[in-house]
Amino acid sequence: MALLKDGSIVLLKGKKREFFVEVSDGKLHTDLGIIELKDLREREYGDRINTHLGHDLLIRKPRTPDFFRNCKRVGAPIVPKDIGIIIAYTGICKEDEVLDAGTGSGVLAIYLGSIASKVITYEKNAEFVKTAKKNIDNAGLKNVEVRHGDILSEIPKIKENFDIITLDMRDASQVIPYAKSILKPSGFLVTYSPFFEQSKDVRDAMGKEFSDVKTLECMEREISFARGLTRPSTRVVGHTGFITIARL
Ligand SMILES: C[S@@+](CC[C@H](N)C(=O)[O-])C[C@H]1O[C@@H](n2cnc3c(N)ncnc32)[C@H](O)[C@@H]1O
Repeated sequence: MALLKDGSIVLLKGKKREFFVEVSDGKLHTDLGIIELKDLREREYGDRINTHLGHDLLIRKPRTPDFFRNCKRVGAPIVPKDIGIIIAYTGICKEDEVLDAGTGSGVLAIYLGSIASKVITYEKNAEFVKTAKKNIDNAGLKNVEVRHGDILSEIPKIKENFDIITLDMRDASQVIPYAKSILKPSGFLVTYSPFFEQSKDVRDAMGKEFSDVKTLECMEREISFARGLTRPSTRVVGHTGFITIARL
């Protein structure tokens, strides 16, 4: 197994807390004590280190759900339950080229980039572009390209063709007439909309050229386990968004 070097991003997992850190000369001050980040050098995933107060932390290799919990967020990132629907219903695979907009924090782009061959993602807000690039860089993904620009004015200029197009942005319905021309035959178009009205606009814009159009909402309910008291958790993720999936 490769040893950790400066610049590696790792997850330090305690009993109740976790920390997302970069191997460096720095120190991280936490409620569990100070973590000397140089102590991570030459260590392996699965090793353990201690804070200066003796709290034990497991060194983990971060994976996409860890980036979702710990990356810098701007706006409202799409959540794993909804990403799961997109992955499952499009059958995204390692040959796929994906167009995504808007990037936001880059959470969806990171999940898609961890599966597909290439993801190009557009974001109109320059600050969000910087955040997303940093998050994608931390995730170690070289196949996710963030482009700064308004997809509405940029999409007519796009020369590439895509297997999947994902739109998590307010005016998704306005992008659809152009999306048709750069989506490969058999390709999937996916939109994520918090409101019924947006989903209706998206379905109207899909018109007759798309088939197998489906709008879904995914409910996630965790089960709380305790002796004799096992039941669904009282805290649930409420409404997030509606996912519309269609195919050329
Ligand atoms: C809900 S967030 C996307 C979250 C993202 N999917 C994630 O997982 O982190 C919507 C983003 O779309 C961007 N956006 C809205 N309209 C856009 C447009 N026309 N072109 C590019 N980006 C746009 C917004 O600035 C915002 O960052």
